[in-house]
Amino acid sequence: MKSTEFLYAGTVEELKRKGRLVVRGPHRPILVLEHRGRIFALDNRCPHMGFPLDRGSSDDGILTCHWHHARFDLASGCTFDLWADDVPTCPVETRGAEIWVKAEFGCPDPAAYWQQRLHDGMAHNLGLVIAKAVQGQLAAGVAPLEMVRQAALFGVRHLDGWSTGMTILTALGNLLPQLEGEDAYLALFHGVRRVAADCDGAAPGRTRAALASRPDASTLKRWLRRWNAVRHGEAAQRTVLTAVATGATPASIAELLLAAETDRVFADTGHSLDFINKGLECLDLIGWEHAAGLIPMVVGQMTAARGSDEATEWRQPIDFVALCEQAAAELSRRFPAARHERNWSKHAELARVLLGDEPDAIFGALGSAISDDASLDDLGRSLAYGAALRVAQFGTANEHGDWDTAHHVFTYCNAVHQSLKRIAASHDVSGFPEASRALLHGAAAIYLIRYLNVPPARLPGEGDDGLDALPSTPEDIRASLLDAFDHQHQVEAAARLVARHLTLGHPPELIIAALARALLREDAGFHAYQMLEAGVRQFKEWNNAPAGRHILVAVARYLAAHSPTERSLLQTADIAARLSRGDRLHEEA
Ligand code: FES
Repeated sequence: MKSTEFLYAGTVEELKRKGRLVVRGPHRPILVLEHRGRIFALDNRCPHMGFPLDRGSSDDGILTCHWHHARFDLASGCTFDLWADDVPTCPVETRGAEIWVKAEFGCPDPAAYWQQRLHDGMAHNLGLVIAKAVQGQLAAGVAPLEMVRQAALFGVRHLDGWSTGMTILTALGNLLPQLEGEDAYLALFHGVRRVAADCDGAAPGRTRAALASRPDASTLKRWLRRWNAVRHGEAAQRTVLTAVATGATPASIAELLLAAETDRVFADTGHSLDFINKGLECLDLIGWEHAAGLIPMVVGQMTAARGSDEATEWRQPIDFVALCEQAAAELSRRFPAARHERNWSKHAELARVLLGDEPDAIFGALGSAISDDASLDDLGRSLAYGAALRVAQFGTANEHGDWDTAHHVFTYCNAVHQSLKRIAASHDVSGFPEASRALLHGAAAIYLIRYLNVPPARLPGEGDDGLDALPSTPEDIRASLLDAFDHQHQVEAAARLVARHLTLGHPPELIIAALARALLREDAGFHAYQMLEAGVRQFKEWNNAPAGRHILVAVARYLAAHSPTERSLLQTADIAARLSRGDRLHEEA
């Protein structure tokens, strides 16, 4: 509460006698203390977790909270223990023998204050400080994406390479338009928190510079592939920085990176390409003016990544590396003749072929689709849907760890789709043949994990699997879904509730919000964030058509297989939210 009026707190004599005064009213309680003849007024709630500070002690100008023993400078409220945060001070006046205080807490520029606190929380990897800073910025009217920008730039300054936290932050930043209220707060907290954890103790980013010359795009591509082949990270980074310095478009940067990235096959089980795509998406969120700082982070990962060409399953009994090379040569013959118009509509049909048992038929179908004028975007969409079906039909008799085998292929295929979509937007087909190798690697990866669907799990609501006995209103479905996530082994129950919501024609955004809440209340693993974001992206390609439903079923099944967890992040976020609202946390302790 803010007040322009001073409030009577008591007399100087009374303060000396009692040692402290507490002014109560409709505002937060105000603590009044004296030290060496000066009188101070502070918020009586400890900023750490709300314990009443009048139960603490004051000595030599230092106020100590008696809950976790955080210490504060009486004059400024600043803390000596950064995890606790600063205590807001209040204006105080002595009028003769009387003490008057004003119930004004905080600082003149809350947005700037909480931005600094977000930085401090990240610098010291303090979850509660981060959560409070996110709350504080939201309350000050700061746009959620601005906090994504702050955290991403912190990561750019403090990390030498791309990280899982940067991917999580970007994935959740992409989801922010679907999230409201507490879900948006939780998403920001999770994203910022994970970047801070990655930065804690990490080697800071090194300064790198572009070449002084400005070679053409084909030369830069040739050089980047050369440096990637010999794993010369510094040279690769300077080459890409030079492309940025030439003013290359996001599509050209994507094409350049994918050309080198796909010289290796399904590198780092798909994470390398996925990280490149997320780096580009991060720039979409925070602004491409930060490309020179951010892009070297994903290039370093790319040059170090290990390709699947060394993995047995890619070589025997079928040599998929050789098969992909042959197919790539065939695609490059077909690309120049194709018109790449947006009138091709056999996405679901192609996806079903990709799930087949015949590699020749799979690669042949991709070639035929190009000749039929399917665009790179079209092919990527089919690829991602095929991979999503691997998750949607994942047999729970598999080992639990194999969920991630299916997940890797799906999120890789989604990254391929998003990257190809970016490249296709340039209308310049010169880079298509190299980038299209990502499609072939994705198709091979889908083939290689076909055992995960033997036998395939039933898709809910199809065949004789009626859903009529399930709840019918959006509210009841959401409640049942979240209840399912409270228990282990609820994979099918969660999938059926999602299918129920969508087949009844309820707004998809409601069930997406429920899935987001299910994720954001957990101490989720890295893959769960990827799964939700990739699933929502791919769902939007189809909306509430059968394919779209299958994709969200895949998301629900994966998340349910990894829930519940201890939910410690949620507890921290909840404490910060209650402190921000002014709720009483420990007033009665
Ligand atoms: S130190 Fe005051 S509540 Fe924790």
